[in-house]
Order: sequence, then structure tokens, then C-alpha cells
Amino acid sequence: MSKLAADLGAINLSQGFPDFDCDPALVDAVARHMRDGRNQYAPMQGVPALRQAIAAKYSALHGAAYDPDTEVTVTSGGTEAIFDAVAAVVHPGDEVIVFEPCYDSYVPAVEVNGGKAIVVSLRYPDYAVPWDEVRAAVTPRTRLIVLNSPHNPAAVVLGAQDIGELERLVDGTGITILSDEVYEHIIFDGARHESMARSEVLRARSFIVGSFGKTYHVTGWKVGYVVAPADLMTEFRKVHQFVTFSTNTPVQHALAEFLSQKRGYPELSAFYQRKRDLFLELLDGSRWKPLPSRGTYFQLLDYSAITDERDMDFALRLTKDHGVASIPTSAFLYHQAAPPVLRFCFAKKDETLEAAAGRLRQL
Ligand SMILES: Cc1ncc(COP(=O)(O)O)c(C=O)c1O
Repeated sequence: MSKLAADLGAINLSQGFPDFDCDPALVDAVARHMRDGRNQYAPMQGVPALRQAIAAKYSALHGAAYDPDTEVTVTSGGTEAIFDAVAAVVHPGDEVIVFEPCYDSYVPAVEVNGGKAIVVSLRYPDYAVPWDEVRAAVTPRTRLIVLNSPHNPAAVVLGAQDIGELERLVDGTGITILSDEVYEHIIFDGARHESMARSEVLRARSFIVGSFGKTYHVTGWKVGYVVAPADLMTEFRKVHQFVTFSTNTPVQHALAEFLSQKRGYPELSAFYQRKRDLFLELLDGSRWKPLPSRGTYFQLLDYSAITDERDMDFALRLTKDHGVASIPTSAFLYHQAAPPVLRFCFAKKDETLEAAAGRLRQL
């Protein structure tokens, strides 16, 4: 959709990336570390200062103690962390529970490692986790459950009740959890991010994935991380060592400075909540019906009052004829019929959102 938007000159609210720049001080910091000669391979597990800053953040935000030497690894984006975690624990014939709609890398990562994806559908329209169905999907072959909160594309978040359900489900089993928390700092309306790190039962069996791309408006830098207990991390690093070995050195040093100074992330939720509210206000009174966006920088809009076209057909027509690119949720679905909603990214300048909303209101 991004390519189509570029080819046609449409406003691109499809792929999830900001159309504004990051803090110039972050770019200066990377340049400074480059000039200071930090241009060779970083340690395989990540630059120590960055691992220490990540561990300190988990301690401060979630009261969770991760050892920076043995329980934190810096990766080339959240996507690498997801792949490595799956490869570390999934063997041929293992079953992995994933929830649809879901980020597109989960199922290929499972299948390329010989696993079988057991897809459970989140309940439309509130995208709640159907815990009874999850319990029914668990078998002796279940090796991993993949969760994502805040959730792309549904923009929902797990609540304390979900955490309780999950604790009861996995306690006493050998099931590992892969928790994709790349939008951990973008959560709205005063809700708390229910990280797996907050629960002792879950922390002890979880890979938790983060991404600096989302947090510092630098999706193109592709730097992320994973935290996990030492036994899981030992297996993770065996994969990471031969997938990328290590991650961009000067960028890690710059991120270590920002993270240790608590820069950027404490105000990120308020920053994006204002953008969400602006986008919704601009669409108020139109035929687009918003679903609640409780986190991430995505907004689902129900278009059933406009057309009964399938989501892919309508998304293409919207780009070609009306100049606004979005993503159809069928791109994130395996079994479920696609509902009449499209995903719009509001990580955009106010003027971009105003221009897009002006076009959307005409439908
Ligand atoms: C849910 C989810 N997980 C993981 C990623 C990947 O993060 P990264 O860009 O750091 O690889 C994304 C990026 O869009 C995402 O939306």
C-alpha cells in the first residue's frame, strides 16, 4: 500500500511509521558516536550501557529484575527478536497459538521452524481474547503462545483480567510465551501497560520484545530488544548469534544515552493520544465509525455505512480514487472473514491528518 500510495501521490496512512522526524539530539548523538570511532561490531548481546538502561527501565516501570548480562539482548528490530525467540524454542511438530488478526511475521516464523500455527480469532468487534477457545486449543504439543499488547492492528490492550486468565492457563505447563510489546509506551486513557514482566508466573516463561523504532520515531533504524529469564535467553542467543550476530553500534550507544536519561518514552502516550483525538475529531460526523483505539498509533474505522465492498477492494479504491492509503485487516487474518474496517496510522503530522480526514469526510 505504501508503494501504491507513493506511485499515485496518495496520502499514506497505511504502513506504520511517522512522517515527522525524530529528536535531532538523537541524530546528533549517533553522529557523535560515529565520529568518536564506535563503528565496529558491537558485542553479540548488545552494548553494555544499552542493556543496563533496558534492565533499569523494567525495574523502574514494572518492578522486574532482569540481569543485563544474561537476560537482555539487543536485536536488529523487534522482527529479528520475534524470529529468534520462535527459532529458539519451536521444533518440528510443535504447536504455537497465535491470535488473529496478527502482525504478519509470527506465522511465517513458526512455519519456517517446522512448527504448526494454531490460529485463534480475537472476537470482533471488541477483539477480546476468547479464553475458553484458547484453553480448548492447548494440547500436549503446545510449545508457545504469541501475544501482542498494545495490539497491531486492532489497537486493543490486554487487561489485568487477561493476565489472570493467562497465568491460570500456563501455570504447571511447559508453555513459553512470546509477548510482542513493541508499542509498550503508546497506551491511552490512563490505562497501565500490562507487561508480562509484571507477573512472576508469566515473567518466568516469557520472551518480551521491544522496539526503539516505535518509541523514538526511528522505524528505519531497526533496533529492538528482548528480555527473558537466563535459561530462555541462552537459547535465544544461540539463534541471534547466527542470524545477525550484532546490531548497529553507534545507534546502540546513542539509544543508551536517551534511555538512561529517561528521554522520550514518558511523554509518548500523551503525544499519540492527542493525535488520535485530533484524527477522530476531524472525522466526527462522517460516515466512518471509529472502533476504540486504546494503544499503538493505529485507528480502525468501520466503513459499513459507506460501502459493502470487501476491505481489500475498498482500500485499493480509496487509494486510487480518493487519495488516502490504509491497510485492510484481511492482511492480518488467516481464517476469520474480514470485517468492514480499515486500519489507519495516525503517526503523522497534524497537517497530514487534516488533509486525509478532509478526503475521508467526502465519502
Ligand atoms: C506488532 C508489531 N510487532 C513487531 C514489529 C516490528 O518492529 P521492528 O520495526 O522493530 O522490527 C511491528 C512493526 O510494525 C509491529 O507492529
